[in-house]
Amino acid sequence: GKVAVMFGGDSAEREVSLKSGSAVLKALRGVGVDAHAFDPREKPLSALREEHFQRAFIALHGRGGEDGCLQGALELMGIPYTGSGVLASALAMDKWRTKLVWRAAGIPVPDFVLLDARSNFAAIEHQLGLPLFVKPANEGSSIGITKVKDVGTLAAAYHEAARYDSIVLAERYMSGGEFTVGILGSGHKARALPVIRIVPATEFYDYDAKYLRDDTEYRIPSGLDTAQEKEMQDLALAAFNVIGGRGWGRVDMMMDGERRIVALEANTAPGMTDHSLVPMAARAEGIGFEQLVVQVLREATL
Ligand code: DAL
Ligand code: MG
Repeated sequence: GKVAVMFGGDSAEREVSLKSGSAVLKALRGVGVDAHAFDPREKPLSALREEHFQRAFIALHGRGGEDGCLQGALELMGIPYTGSGVLASALAMDKWRTKLVWRAAGIPVPDFVLLDARSNFAAIEHQLGLPLFVKPANEGSSIGITKVKDVGTLAAAYHEAARYDSIVLAERYMSGGEFTVGILGSGHKARALPVIRIVPATEFYDYDAKYLRDDTEYRIPSGLDTAQEKEMQDLALAAFNVIGGRGWGRVDMMMDGERRIVALEANTAPGMTDHSLVPMAARAEGIGFEQLVVQVLREATL
C-alpha cells in the first residue's frame, strides 16, 4: 500500500529531517514501494487519510515529529508508523526525564543538574567539574549545546540552551570518548548494531561535526575490546527497552576516564542522512541503506 514518508516539519532539526526523509524516500522508491513525501508543515495530517496512506515512515526529528505528538495522532487515525510509540517517543525527547527513568532502573548516566537563571554556577562547577556540557533537555542534533571550560561562560551557555527549551541541563564531561549504538527491532527481538566510536575534530560532536564537516572520524570497529563492545551494546539495548523503545533507534553513550560507560540519550527517529550513524553501523554489518529502510518499515505498527 501507499506509504507516507514524513519529513521536514517545524522543529529546529528541519534541515536534517529534509535530508533524512529524501534519502528514505529515494530508497523506498528504489525497491518499488509506493512512497510519497509528506511534510506536516505543508499539509494537515487529515490528508493522510484523504490520500489513503496505509503506513507512515517517520523521518521527522525533534519536536512535533519525534516527541510522541505525531505518534499519538497516527494512533488515533489508525495508521501504522515506524519506530517508537507515544510514551517512548515523548520520554526520549526529554533528556532530563530520560535520565531520571534510567537512573531509577539502574542504567548508568552521567552526573547532571538542572540549571535555571538563579543557579549558583560556582556550586555547579564544584559539583560537576570542568569542562561540562550545558544542553536544552528537549532538542536534537546538538542544537543549543555548549561545552563549558570556564565557569565565567556558564551563564552564557545557560542562556543559549534556554533559547530552545525551558529545561536546561548541566552534565558532567566524560573523558573516555563518545559512542553510539544503533538498535533494530523491538522487545526481546531488538538487537544492537556494531558500536561506533565518534572522534570529532572539533571540541565535541556538535551540529557542524555532525552534518557539515567531513573531518569527524567514525570508528567501526570501535576499538573497544570484545567484552566492552558487548557491554555497551547490552547497555544500549537495556536503555532502549527501559523507555519502551520500539522498531529502531539509537542510544548515545560516553565513557569516563576509568572506562565506565554511561548512557546520554536515546533517539527514537535517528538521522538517516549521508552523515548519519545508524546507516553507517548497519552498513558495517552488511545491511545496505535500502535494506535498512525496508527493515524499519516492516516493523511499522500501531
Ligand atoms: N537527532 C538526530 C537527527 C539524530 O539523532 O540522528
Ligand atoms: Mg538526540
